[in-house]
Amino acid sequence: MKVVSVMNTKGGVGKSTLASNLVGFVKQMGFEVAICDLDKQNTLTFWHKKSKLNLLELKIDDLNKIKKTKNIDYLFIDTPAAIKKNLIYKITEISNFCIIPFTESMIDIRTTKKFLGVLKKYKKNKKLKFFLVLNKLRFSKNNILRIKDIEDKLLNKVHVNILNTKNFDKEMEKGSIITKSNYSKTFHIRDQLINLINKI
Ligand SMILES: Nc1ncnc2c1ncn2[C@@H]1O[C@H](COP(=O)(O)OP(=O)(O)O)[C@@H](O)[C@H]1O
Ligand SMILES: [Mg+2]
Repeated sequence: MKVVSVMNTKGGVGKSTLASNLVGFVKQMGFEVAICDLDKQNTLTFWHKKSKLNLLELKIDDLNKIKKTKNIDYLFIDTPAAIKKNLIYKITEISNFCIIPFTESMIDIRTTKKFLGVLKKYKKNKKLKFFLVLNKLRFSKNNILRIKDIEDKLLNKVHVNILNTKNFDKEMEKGSIITKSNYSKTFHIRDQLINLINKI
């Protein structure tokens, strides 16, 4: 089983949106998926109930025995922004992959850079791979240059970029995922999600 956590100490960057969409997308591909919602806001849980997917839901205490969970291909863990360091430590220990969404605002870039520092310092699991997802990207001709500038500021590569669209919100409310909507930029987002899934 692959354990994928979605984390960032910054709120509103799209952790729960991305977690839900990845869960729905991977499930649609035919994999067995379990979820763990560590955020009291329960966004992932809400989406899951609406989706009627009936996935295995794990609690924080179950995480110690997750490796023994049979027949599950992926476990996705959604986390709160106000996450304590000991929980970051615990999650990095059990995760194979950590997805870090952020936006191009200066506040997000600064917070994310700091969070990457914490991750590197605290991760005991040396094999943990992390992926930076630049979310809510405004499309423009100079996107490539803007992303390059962000990479320079973060001293890290941006692995995936996802365009800004209200359609995420609409699909989340329905318990659906963005790639099922008729939205014109869906192809770009689908490619980016596939790109991310191929890495994990
Ligand atoms: N790519 C996107 N484009 C536009 N809005 C987005 C995008 N991703 C997330 N959002 C919106 O941003 C808000 C916060 O997202 P959420 O997933 O709850 O963030 P977090 O879990 O990091 O706090 C929600 O209203 C969500 O619909
Ligand atoms: Mg959330």
